[in-house]
Amino acid sequence: STLRLGMIPADGIGKEVLPAAQRVLEALGSAIPRVEFVPLLAGWEEFNKNGKALPEATIETLKIECDAAMFGSVSSPSHKVPGYSSPIVALRKHLDLYANIRPVKSVQGVDGKPVDMVIVRENTECLYIKKEEIHDNADGSKVAYATRQITSYASSRIGRMAYELALRRQAEREAGASSSVHHSQPKVTIVHKSNVLSVTDGLFRETVRAVSQEDKYKSVKTEEQLVDSMVYRMFREPEIFDVSVAPNLYGDIISDGAAALVGSLGVVPSVNAGDNFVMGEPVHGSAPDIEGKGIANPIASIRSAALLLSHLGYTDAAAKIDTAVDNVLREGKYRTPDLHGKSTTEEVTNAILKAL
Ligand code: NAI
Ligand code: MG
Repeated sequence: STLRLGMIPADGIGKEVLPAAQRVLEALGSAIPRVEFVPLLAGWEEFNKNGKALPEATIETLKIECDAAMFGSVSSPSHKVPGYSSPIVALRKHLDLYANIRPVKSVQGVDGKPVDMVIVRENTECLYIKKEEIHDNADGSKVAYATRQITSYASSRIGRMAYELALRRQAEREAGASSSVHHSQPKVTIVHKSNVLSVTDGLFRETVRAVSQEDKYKSVKTEEQLVDSMVYRMFREPEIFDVSVAPNLYGDIISDGAAALVGSLGVVPSVNAGDNFVMGEPVHGSAPDIEGKGIANPIASIRSAALLLSHLGYTDAAAKIDTAVDNVLREGKYRTPDLHGKSTTEEVTNAILKAL
């Protein structure tokens, strides 16, 4: 059988780090089925060329011809541009990739507290439904509104994803998976702000709590954290967190924060997962400040490929990649400047290929 993988580098360093992930996948040989890479277009550059940030052909090819996909990063402008909307947000919607799973682990040899946590970010609603409006007041000033949507449907399925993951991580630990943190019991932390947003975050909290009551999740401990104190505690004592589940915007923000704890956004992977499709994607953006210099850290992208394989059931191949990456990081000889090294994207990728 062949694994058809849609490859969407999109913009900026996405074009530099996605090929690195492809090289690693190609080097796996018989550990995985034959992979056919299907190059696909999307992004800000594509929008400026052809008027569409997410061409129909890309969506159709993904839906009809691909088993899974890898996404690089997109350069979304910070101001409104008529006709443009973020292709990654749209892709998550089109493919119903309702969970963004973001494991964050300490890098050996990088100073910091021990971290081994996963952020499970709801991926389809919250403020990211982008229902915004702006009005002129009588006095000439302006007022803008955004609608925040939280449904019991989406909260329940993301909650279930978090509890399943907590059980899976516990099983991996029991099977001897190494970790810098000792988690004595699987745990899910529900992140919200329902002391203020008692209706929307209240619904999220109640719905995930109801999932936690299901019999099969009896062994999982449930805690809650208001999102602001979540950030505080995450920086002071990140080792207390195992799986955290959050509405879309909070999940987006705390995962960049968590990335800072382990030294760089350049090492933090993710997958966008639904019931029928999965797409790997580094957590970082297009990094215009280092674009074109050949120094982007390829590890987030390479780890995203591993996470993707693991989701497709190729756990041994995924573990091979992770071990190779860990070895290169531990050795410390080849690191990109974000990790205070002097190596290029290519040198780090070559080192990982060699370690494989
Ligand atoms: P960013 O994640 O692109 O960069 C933040 C900082 O981290 C920069 O200093 C950058 O150089 C560094 N960095 C990120 N990835 C790195 C890597 N692999 N190796 C080394 N250093 C790395 O976030 P920023 O600058 O706020 O946004 C830039 C653009 O990316 C914006 O247009 C934004 O809309 C877009 N973006 C796209 C995302 C996506 O495609 N899913 C996610 C976040 C932002
Ligand atoms: Mg983000």
